[in-house]
Amino acid sequence: MKDAITLSIDGRPLSVRAGTTVAAAVELAMPGRGGHVSPGGARRQPLCGMGVCGECRVTIDGEAHRLGCQTPCAAGMRVRTDA
Ligand code: FES
Repeated sequence: MKDAITLSIDGRPLSVRAGTTVAAAVELAMPGRGGHVSPGGARRQPLCGMGVCGECRVTIDGEAHRLGCQTPCAAGMRVRTDA
């Protein structure tokens, strides 16, 4: 893939095109499973895609509550959906 970068999502490598958002990468890695888990245990999925709803929150390189829809993927980035 031209302009591919590799990051990890929940410890598994994934290659995406440069410019792909983290929210899109999470969907590619685990279709329909969502990016995080609510306090009640339900999987949540991105809703607005513009930084308002917070449903795309993930942990990126150890920093919790990052908005996946507003964050472009970067080479070597470590994304966790379980925090
Ligand atoms: S999808 Fe709503 S803030 Fe990211």
